[in-house]
Amino acid sequence: MSAIPISYKDTNLRTAAVIPAAGRGVRLGPGAPKALRTLGGVPILVHAVRAMAAARAVQVIVVVAPPEGTAEVRALLDAHGLPGTTDIQVVPGGEARQDSVRLGLAALPDDVDVVLVHDAARPLVPVETVEAVVDAVRAGAPAVVPALPPADTIKTVDPDTGAVTGTPRRDLLRAVQTPQGFDRATLAKAHSEVTDGVTDDASMVERLGVRVVVVPGHEEAFKVTRPLDLVLAEAVLARRRATDGY
Ligand code: CTP
Ligand code: MG
Repeated sequence: MSAIPISYKDTNLRTAAVIPAAGRGVRLGPGAPKALRTLGGVPILVHAVRAMAAARAVQVIVVVAPPEGTAEVRALLDAHGLPGTTDIQVVPGGEARQDSVRLGLAALPDDVDVVLVHDAARPLVPVETVEAVVDAVRAGAPAVVPALPPADTIKTVDPDTGAVTGTPRRDLLRAVQTPQGFDRATLAKAHSEVTDGVTDDASMVERLGVRVVVVPGHEEAFKVTRPLDLVLAEAVLARRRATDGY
């Protein structure tokens, strides 16, 4: 058996979560910015911040707010009594998700060596998933993504003609979620060198040629994207409140 090189990260340094929350939520339909809409009476963003703060390893959180809504977001977080042990900052976001993540990374304190990037739009991610990602990074993986096998068969198409161009083997596909976890220097390098359109942070790291590994994702880490997702999220929340006093 060959030895697997393991380089544990320095545990004196802190783990941070950057939470991009600056999107409008166009696919959800008209209304307030998605992160500020409520689930069970609590803003989606507050659920997402709580989910990150629930992980003991996460000591720093940077929320990336809609540019005109920074003061409102700060007030909202203060009003919801989040744990005082977590240092929470709010910064204004940018045009595209990756601009928002970059602005969040720029606000991180120096003593952070592991960074999670978590969509505000995934308010119900279980703490076990967050911890599995942090543990894998602390154990030496430079980039970690939670993922699940897709339920549907996926096809590639020609967007101009609508013709199907292929059917990738489903057993080779994974739908990836957040939080995605990174060695800070690796993520910073990816954000400074990769500029073209990508939809997640791991794919920027892949472009650097760095190995990205997968840990099991969770059904409840789904992204609130379309109106039906709000119905599902309300149901998950109601079940949690009924069964474990969440
Ligand atoms: N996001 C961001 N800054 C942007 C765009 C998106 O911080 N300029 C954030 C969103 O707030 C969300 C996460 O990135 O938490 C994932 O994006 P998505 O689900 O696409 O959210 P929206 O962009 O808000 O939704 P839509 O694409 O339907 O407008
Ligand atoms: Mg979007």
